[in-house]
Amino acid sequence: THDELAELLGSRVRDIPDHPKPGIVFKDITPLLADPVAFGALTEALAATAGRLGATKVVGLEARGFILGAPVALAAGIGFVPVRKAGKLPGATLSQSYDLEYGSAEIEIHAEDLTADDRVLIVDDVLATGGTAEAAIGLVRRTPARLVGLAVLMELGFLPGGTRVRDALGEVPYQALLTV
Ligand code: PRP
Repeated sequence: THDELAELLGSRVRDIPDHPKPGIVFKDITPLLADPVAFGALTEALAATAGRLGATKVVGLEARGFILGAPVALAAGIGFVPVRKAGKLPGATLSQSYDLEYGSAEIEIHAEDLTADDRVLIVDDVLATGGTAEAAIGLVRRTPARLVGLAVLMELGFLPGGTRVRDALGEVPYQALLTV
């Protein structure tokens, strides 16, 4: 069931207090990655989402979105497309900048990786402020492909990220396997 999956996944996420700075509790997914049962259950759940939505590509967000998204794409039998931090992708890119708490960041995608035939599921590990996911939504929407979903392992429920991405997504479905 959904609750059993959430319990298993939640039990493999570790809180690291005061990382990367005082007052922040970092959600560390490395115990989950090290456990093939939990990692496998997560992969299967997200691959099922991809299948349900008829996705043809998983777009994973650097860096932890790569670790989760790549096996999901393979399990669903579809392709994987990376969204990277600015300056890393060698080909022609589309870029999107977004605001951080202090300053701004920029992410990029290879322009030719998504075509008009593609249906895209965006995958990441954590939704915090929602800024990264919102920028990725904007990026995918500037390609000819159709965005069909956003799925994350974990939403930080005490931040407004969920509301923010729901507003950005409109009718497009959003799934968080776990809310903490
Ligand atoms: C983390 C996380 C998400 C993002 C969520 O990535 O993996 O991508 O932050 O935060 P937001 O909802 O406030 O935008 P980070 O930028 O730390 O990159 P990393 O995965 O490369 O460590």
